[in-house]
Amino acid sequence: MISVFGSQIGAEELAEVTASLGAQWMGMGPKVKAFEKEFAAHLGAADFAMLDSGSNSLYTAITLLDLPGGSEVILPSFTWIACAHAVVLAGLKPIFCDVDVATMNVTAPLIAAKVSPRTSAVMVVHYAGLPVEMQPVLDLGLPVIEDAAHAACSVHRGRACGTIGDVGIYSFDAVKNLASPDGGGVVARDIKRVERARVLRYCGIGKSGFESSATKDRWWEYDVRAFFPRFLPNDISAAIALAQLRKLDALQERRRVIWNRYQEAFGDLAWLHRPVECPDGDRHSYFTYCVRIDGKSRDRLAKYLYDRGIYSTLRYHPLHMNPIYGATERLPTTERLNEQALSLPLHPRLSDGDVDQVIDGVRSFDA
Ligand SMILES: Cc1ncc(COP(=O)(O)O)c(C=O)c1O
Repeated sequence: MISVFGSQIGAEELAEVTASLGAQWMGMGPKVKAFEKEFAAHLGAADFAMLDSGSNSLYTAITLLDLPGGSEVILPSFTWIACAHAVVLAGLKPIFCDVDVATMNVTAPLIAAKVSPRTSAVMVVHYAGLPVEMQPVLDLGLPVIEDAAHAACSVHRGRACGTIGDVGIYSFDAVKNLASPDGGGVVARDIKRVERARVLRYCGIGKSGFESSATKDRWWEYDVRAFFPRFLPNDISAAIALAQLRKLDALQERRRVIWNRYQEAFGDLAWLHRPVECPDGDRHSYFTYCVRIDGKSRDRLAKYLYDRGIYSTLRYHPLHMNPIYGATERLPTTERLNEQALSLPLHPRLSDGDVDQVIDGVRSFDA
């Protein structure tokens, strides 16, 4: 079966992990520190705090904004469930907004339609790695959380996605552009927030153990500054993420080549809408290749490909249609994407033969 998402792990990752294990260090330590420094440099950010997942980074990012309890956060429905869960867990209310059909991203007018006196923040998601048009969103004058889980390699108007809003988050789970068993982290315009995330991530403990021993006789005591879960990253994930980061250009180049092959191969198919390209000057991360198919044939295409050994999927089932959110509003474009959108395999481990097979599969489908 050709998988729809995937990562490429090689000798570099093995060497980094072996070094950590050889040094008897698996928990948070030197690899996390090294990754934080190198990833911040990759983003052009002053600082970056690694956490244990993108989902927990969302909760942390919302906490860092100190939003009034019970206030509303506007976010797309066409995103991962943890985006809305983070809002609820922080004691706030998610308000779902629609997306643009071509970019599959939120726009400022779609967000503006949902603003109320109770709105305290906006969460944007750079879907598939295509940057959201950020300036009009910033012009709404609300704090902005940027979910760059798909966009660790995306650039918008010269700035790394995630670094444009007030707080940005990343995910390094096993199928992301920069993969590890699990990982995430936050950046912020005000770097004091990044330092605060480092305190929050370990049950709100400011300093502990040998870190505080220089100033304290009793180094076993610790200074708890907040009520917060344990979202601590570990050196095994950081070791793998570090190796991935150092070869990211090659991984991204492979994604770009596959993306371009699909774009060329599907250009003449009247029934298939290809994903839009980045505006000039921006950079796409090519996290997923999400097409749109008119009419009822999307499900048939997915089944047809599956029978030919090709896995495809839809990311995401709209959040407002999920019974747990019980939302009654209609979001027409999101609901249309729920019927028409489909992600085809795109990841650096695909061989040229796999890509040919996907292209043949799609082109031979009778829509
Ligand atoms: C848009 C988006 N945000 C957040 C996350 C959460 O990341 P993680 O899997 O690292 O918890 C994901 C994961 O797929 C995602 O797609």
